Amino acid sequence: LAKAMDTAPAGSLTALRQQARDCRACDLWRPATQTVFGEGPADARIVVIGEQPGDQEDLAGKPFVGPAGKLFNQAMEEAGVSRAAVYVTNTVKHFKFEPRGKRRLHKRANAEEQAACRPWLAAEIERIQPDALVCLGAMAAQAVFGASFRLMAQRGEWITLPGGRKAMATVHPSYLLRLPGEEERAEAYAAFVRDLGLMRDLLM
Ligand code: URA
Ligand code: SF4
Repeated sequence: LAKAMDTAPAGSLTALRQQARDCRACDLWRPATQTVFGEGPADARIVVIGEQPGDQEDLAGKPFVGPAGKLFNQAMEEAGVSRAAVYVTNTVKHFKFEPRGKRRLHKRANAEEQAACRPWLAAEIERIQPDALVCLGAMAAQAVFGASFRLMAQRGEWITLPGGRKAMATVHPSYLLRLPGEEERAEAYAAFVRDLGLMRDLLM
């Protein structure tokens, strides 16, 4: 993130959002409907970072409104953290997919696309100046902590970044939706809620 910030676009958060609509820094903009920029208060104390928009986010132009978003909302509510109080964004701002008949199958953004999009995330953080970052899933965690970060070993605890900001990583809600066993899913969901609950102290 620090490196990307050198090339971060200038201007207010609103100006940034406008600029991101016309981004052509990688090819993902081409088949996608629109840039899905972050959403939330410009003075939020916490920035929550997901991976990339899905089908519904692409159509709505807002982050976390599809199935993963619904699960995230539910978990935030159970954790006692107001989604409206935090700024929610993604590591990559365009939906990546493979057409399959009438459906659009989600594809993971590759390292090059993640790197191309990094200045937008860096600039959002730069404008907002939050106290803390919360990463949902490995893509966001590696953007924030570096490629050597191991999610399952280091999740669920605040780690102080160089410069003093706190950051924490937890699983991605899509991971919970994919878990096959009901018991396993319930356990993983409870751990997710527990991790999200770490935000409460920072918002009081
Ligand atoms: N998954 C994400 O990582 N981000 C979204 O906005 C939606 C689903
Ligand atoms: Fe630009 Fe990011 Fe979209 Fe690529 S994914 S075109 S870098 S906004």
